[in-house]
Amino acid sequence: MFLRTPIALLTLLIAAIALVAACGNSGESVVAQPTALAPLGEITPITAEPGDSDGEPATSEPAPSGSVVAPAKFITTCGVCHTVAGTDAVGQVGPELTHIGSIASTRTGLDAEAYIRQSIEDPAAFLAPGFGPVMPPGLVGTLGDDFDAVVAYLVSLN
Ligand code: HEC
Repeated sequence: MFLRTPIALLTLLIAAIALVAACGNSGESVVAQPTALAPLGEITPITAEPGDSDGEPATSEPAPSGSVVAPAKFITTCGVCHTVAGTDAVGQVGPELTHIGSIASTRTGLDAEAYIRQSIEDPAAFLAPGFGPVMPPGLVGTLGDDFDAVVAYLVSLN
């Protein structure tokens, strides 16, 4: 009689421990899932940072080339042969003009604006290295009132 009660208590205790252990195990596996979600929370701010830094250059990049907008006639008349990065001028016949504002003054003794004017008025006066006399004369007439705007635009392309 006296011994039976402790044995019954022990049996209950063992059963209770087994239940707690079982709950503890299932509890751990449930906890493991939120733990796996935690890295996702860390990825979100990391993704947001490049987004911010991407936005800054994207805002500053168009500013230099956008300071003087490409005249429409430059795209239609000159863009068939010349490329200016970031515009619809994508021609491959003549030299790329993306940085002509800087390159122009290195070509001859003329300054950038004078060299660019001469390149359009008299294309054969000086040939850009590696190119033949393919650029047609008479484009000043084609540009008409837009001639000065096209020159100013090209001078601005540093
Ligand atoms: C049929 C193709 C063609 C067209 C159209 C054309 N070009 Fe050219 N352009 C060339 C070629 C080829 C050269 C390189 C030979 C030379 O210097 O003449 C050149 C050279 C130039 C240069 C000198 C580039 C350098 O790196 O020294 C400038 C500036 C230029 N072109 C501006 C223009 C402008 C502005 C127009 C439009 C009004 C125009 N081009 C239309 C073919 C063309």
